[in-house]
Amino acid sequence: MPVVVWKDEYSVGIKVIDDQHKELFNRVNKLFDDVSQGNTKTILTTMDFLSSYVVYHFDAEEQLMAKANYPELENHRKEHEWFKHEVSDLRDSISKDGVGVTTTLKLNKLLVDWLINHVTKTDIKFAPFVKQVVS
Ligand SMILES: [Fe+2]
Repeated sequence: MPVVVWKDEYSVGIKVIDDQHKELFNRVNKLFDDVSQGNTKTILTTMDFLSSYVVYHFDAEEQLMAKANYPELENHRKEHEWFKHEVSDLRDSISKDGVGVTTTLKLNKLLVDWLINHVTKTDIKFAPFVKQVVS
């Protein structure tokens, strides 16, 4: 069962970003599959794949925002930095202690709640600006 399911209402109206968000959702779902299997080594490997995709995706968004002279770029970048930091902290804690109930809840809060909130409330704001620089 996927934990995050893509909905059309999550679309920011820019194909390249929507496609990356969908891929991000796929990777989050893979991670929760792994968590339900309970193999720490596999979880860490998937978390590393997810983290590197997050870096790639955030960089892509930030480049487009910069190109569009988006006035909220710095605040947006700070949200990205915060998220990357949290993912890295969680990875460290999983690597030390494995995945317990508390960590699973934290993963849920970060990778489901935060991510959907970020996509639908923060990313959507750059859409009118970025649309002007993507063809
Ligand atoms: Fe973003």
